[in-house]
Amino acid sequence: MAKLALSGGEPVKKSPFPAWPYFDENERAALMEVLESRQWWRTPGTRALEFEQAFARYHGARHGIAVTNGTAALEVSLAALGIGPGDEVIVPDYTFVATASAVLFTGALPVLTDVSADTYCLDPDCAKNAITPRTKAIIVVHIAGHPADMDRFKEIASRHSLYLLEDAAHAHGSEWRGQKVGALGDAGTFSFQQSKLMTAGEGGIIITNRDSIERQARSVHDCGRMPGEWYYSHFIYGSNYRLSEWQAAVLLQQLDRLDAQAAIRTRNAAYLNKALARIEGITPQAQDRRCTRNGHYGYLFHYDRQAFGGTPIDEFIEALNAEGIPTQASYPPLHQLDLFRSGAYRQRLSPDQRDQQHAFLDAPFPNTERAAWEGVWLIHQTLLGSEEDTALIVEAVRKIQTAFRG
Ligand SMILES: Cc1ncc(COP(=O)(O)O)c(C=O)c1O
Repeated sequence: MAKLALSGGEPVKKSPFPAWPYFDENERAALMEVLESRQWWRTPGTRALEFEQAFARYHGARHGIAVTNGTAALEVSLAALGIGPGDEVIVPDYTFVATASAVLFTGALPVLTDVSADTYCLDPDCAKNAITPRTKAIIVVHIAGHPADMDRFKEIASRHSLYLLEDAAHAHGSEWRGQKVGALGDAGTFSFQQSKLMTAGEGGIIITNRDSIERQARSVHDCGRMPGEWYYSHFIYGSNYRLSEWQAAVLLQQLDRLDAQAAIRTRNAAYLNKALARIEGITPQAQDRRCTRNGHYGYLFHYDRQAFGGTPIDEFIEALNAEGIPTQASYPPLHQLDLFRSGAYRQRLSPDQRDQQHAFLDAPFPNTERAAWEGVWLIHQTLLGSEEDTALIVEAVRKIQTAFRG
């Protein structure tokens, strides 16, 4: 039996996966151009505008509003939709905290809800059951790049007159029935933080097909100004969420490369979907047939310790990392975060909501628990290697299983 790298054996993968963030001469030249133009902010810069248009066009949306980060994109979108104190917004329990904290930022209550057992995206039936007369919106998250069930969510949102917001922070270029995600609902938000599929270190964007949402969001993101009006006129409450020209210049280059990188990730993920599913105890995140392209912000699979000699997941992840296969942590269930458990979130709510019982605090969310505590995320760079590199991921899992089974 091969000795685990954790115990001093040879690692299966000896060279690192491609470095991230990726850049080349194009980013260098684009940054130099901004430098020399002396136009470093977007007022009245041109790169941010160009990027907004290019990114929106790529995702089949009429409008893009570039902002400082993905959290800001959610905050600005919710403000543009008029969500505020007294409202409820349905949010998956399995996501990054920003999906829920952006709701709290507006003063509304995020109603945390379980995800589907197979894709780990918000479960449409759980979301439907969480609707009350106060519900104003649903935020779906396309987890690890796999779209939520947009057919069901569009139907639920339209039947109950709710806004549908897509948190597409993981899903640059993902498709549902051949259409890019982000503008399938009322609006969609993306993040360009360092680890994301396109990055400028930080950054975000809102896309929408609805002119009224674009108008509101653009104003909220720029101190309540309105395009074409005098610089010191401010019409609504807003703040400064503007993206800089530096970031936009880099993001234009990253967008140009997205399709080529997505093609490599798709090829390698397809290989893993088949090969890992053959290993007892490993269940890859399900791929719905209506998902015609998964951007693959990482690769997510379920680990059943029983098939690995009962070894806890932390030890499996440690062994995998030692074999040269890097992972990122799975999200904990949001309702178990201190923010919610301590009651600190209540400070953001309207007085009547603050004193309410919130059932989600004690709710059993079995599928979120499964994803949170039994889910393994390979970082997306592991999908950017060669086919031989990808085969080594499978070899590493098999090697660990053999060793753990003793
Ligand atoms: C699902 C999700 N939503 C929102 C965000 C927030 O994005 P940012 O970090 O750019 O604020 C992130 C990422 O960090 C995320 O993963």
